[in-house]
Amino acid sequence: MKPFTFINVAVTVDGKMDTYERRGAAISSAADKIRVDKLRAEADAVMVGGKTLLDEDPKLTVKSEALRVERVERGLTANPIKVGVVTNADGLTDGDFLNFGLARVVIFTTDKTSKAQVEFLRSRNAEVYVHHSERVDLTKALHMLHELGVKRLMVEGGGTLNFELLRLGLVDELTMYIAPMIFGGESAPTAAAGAGLIRSEAVPLKLVASEVHPDGGVVLKYSVERDTISPNAR
Ligand SMILES: NC(=O)c1ccc[n+]([C@@H]2O[C@H](COP(=O)([O-])OP(=O)(O)OC[C@H]3O[C@@H](n4cnc5c(N)ncnc54)[C@H](OP(=O)(O)O)[C@@H]3O)[C@@H](O)[C@H]2O)c1
Repeated sequence: MKPFTFINVAVTVDGKMDTYERRGAAISSAADKIRVDKLRAEADAVMVGGKTLLDEDPKLTVKSEALRVERVERGLTANPIKVGVVTNADGLTDGDFLNFGLARVVIFTTDKTSKAQVEFLRSRNAEVYVHHSERVDLTKALHMLHELGVKRLMVEGGGTLNFELLRLGLVDELTMYIAPMIFGGESAPTAAAGAGLIRSEAVPLKLVASEVHPDGGVVLKYSVERDTISPNAR
């Protein structure tokens, strides 16, 4: 069993999720940030990939106090569980991901992370799962999250994590905010990176909702047609 898993990503019209500088460029409009905050508030856990985690040390908390209060009234914790997927977590500092806001923290890593760092993270109350593989086993990680009570998992990038989850058929839904701007740049990251797929193995999507914001931003919501994902892609 795995949680219902949805990716939310903000991209430019040319599909970039950051500039070539890779400093976490702002893409979402103010209105879109409110939409994303609601999605977070509806999730049991929010997951990010290793590069996003180590480079940006994201808070991953619900920004709106009203939404946090609403969660507590529903018998939930104020914030969803923060989840990091990181091959080597040695670079993870004692910053916002670990400490900001009241939230349970779960880290999936591999034995490339030093034992001392695993101990340090656990001393900061993070629940650390060490996989004995080259990279984190995402299927296993999602099963574990389900066992921890996560029914609704929000994935907030980056492109490498998005791609792997899509490739493995682990994603149910994808929401994309397209900002009316272009970054360009060959090395600027796109919404789904990794090794890529050939045309016959493309992940099939079905558009289920769309919305145009007054500022020209567009929100597209797709369901992933998981039953028709090519077995070769897995
Ligand atoms: N606009 C948006 O919505 C948005 C959201 C989030 C991030 N971003 C941007 O995305 C960029 C970072 O994305 P990214 O693609 O470079 O990295 P990422 O997806 O954040 O992190 C990927 C890394 O996680 C580690 N990992 C461990 N197990 C994995 C597995 N099974 N599958 C995939 N990855 C696994 C890998 O580290 P190793 O390679 O060391 O094994 C991999 O390189 C940044 O520029 C950030 O600003 C944009």
